[in-house]
Amino acid sequence: MTEQTAQTEFDATSPDSARGPRISVVGTGYLGATHAAAMAELGFDVIGVDVDPAKVEALSAGKVPFYEPGLPELLVRGVESGRLRFTTDLAEAAAFADVHFVCVGTPQRPGSNGADLRYVEAAFEGLAQHLTHDALLVGKSTVPVGTGARMAARVREIAPAGLRVELAWNPEFLREGKAVHDTLSPDRVVVGGASQWGDDLLRQVYARPLSTGTPFIATDLPTAELVKVSANAFLATKISFINAISQVCDKAGADVTVLSDALGHDVRIGRQFLNAGLGFGGGCLPKDIRALMHRAGELGADSLVALMQDVDEINMWQRQRVIDMAVQACGGSVLNRRIGVLGAAFKPDTDDVRDSPALNVAAGLHLRGAQVVVYDPEAGETSRRMFPTLTYGTSTEEAVTDADVVLVLTEWPVFRQADPTQLLALTRPGATVIDARNCLPADAWRQAGWTYRGLGAAR
Ligand code: UDX
Repeated sequence: MTEQTAQTEFDATSPDSARGPRISVVGTGYLGATHAAAMAELGFDVIGVDVDPAKVEALSAGKVPFYEPGLPELLVRGVESGRLRFTTDLAEAAAFADVHFVCVGTPQRPGSNGADLRYVEAAFEGLAQHLTHDALLVGKSTVPVGTGARMAARVREIAPAGLRVELAWNPEFLREGKAVHDTLSPDRVVVGGASQWGDDLLRQVYARPLSTGTPFIATDLPTAELVKVSANAFLATKISFINAISQVCDKAGADVTVLSDALGHDVRIGRQFLNAGLGFGGGCLPKDIRALMHRAGELGADSLVALMQDVDEINMWQRQRVIDMAVQACGGSVLNRRIGVLGAAFKPDTDDVRDSPALNVAAGLHLRGAQVVVYDPEAGETSRRMFPTLTYGTSTEEAVTDADVVLVLTEWPVFRQADPTQLLALTRPGATVIDARNCLPADAWRQAGWTYRGLGAAR
């Protein structure tokens, strides 16, 4: 790889480049599939790459292999326009695109808190090896600080001589359930390690959001990598903070929801991510704070290790707290008691059950001998695959029928809006509802005759 070859360089000002740079997206999970479809929506020619032929086949047919509101429409538009296609062949993508986004997963390593970087390494190495013209390789995956520099050195070693090949990091902040919005209208674009050439290319890629005033933050590689993990660490800390406060509320007879509302009026604090409850889960926050803990430990940054350890422990304790509440509501043992579980996804608007606090609680009660019936409006199938031994219902009514205790573990609108009088008629007499997301209208449920329990909810 050399510094520059003017003839083969992508020329942003050339009339032949009317559609802008060609884009590849490597990895088509929540992040990559959404990014690829969004790039096509913005008018670029895009190729998505995945090692899983079933995923590629589904996406090529305009089918999203997971639940993400708004994404199916975007995908179909992209595929039908001819601007968006998918392949399992990395060499095809390397030959096609000018800007390559690496969106593969960085799961937790088995037996360690550290991130497993094998997919990131394979993506950069595979791309570099097959490049046929100048290219900007852009990491989007969440990685431990230092990964970008290591990948840049590796790419330099592997890429064919005579090409201009550069690497930058452009972390992604999208939330599942709001992935389309967050990708098309990000609240900031952070780019680390880009040269002027790379900077220009990425400004072109993000021209539409930038034209509406989205801030573009150009920085170095380690800062860009750390922005992402720090954002997740801060969000996780906020949730564990309010959960710790909710324990104080329980002991003192205070109401954590009113308290959060009052705190939220302080613009320095803000109301978001102050919902006390079962805590955070999913494919990102838990493994990202553990990877940060691990990396901070390697770097000797011990304060952060201690802080993240506490955040993680408070979060995991919330699951035990809800199990204990269910045991208590059953008079000391859940053995052979019927428990209706409403919600399995780690949050509403997704079918994702990775590290789902809801499923963790449901499985914990099942293992203690309870007869658990779980219902989730979207995550029934994904739950069944993860925990085949649990029983799954197909409606709220089915889950609560004959229940001694009902647990609301994911705050889907269908549960928040359920009629407590109708549901109580289906349960065993004297049923308790444990609102582990503090999302139900407590007074209405009490008035309907339920024994209502929230977390940090004044009695
Ligand atoms: C998160 C980050 O928000 C996103 O920026 C990053 O790119 C990926 O990780 P996501 O995993 O989709 O996104 O979920 P998010 O909406 O952040 O919720 C995370 C978890 O926190 C959920 O389990 C949710 O139920 C929980 N949560 C959230 C709370 O317990 N209380 C709150 O107040 C907010």
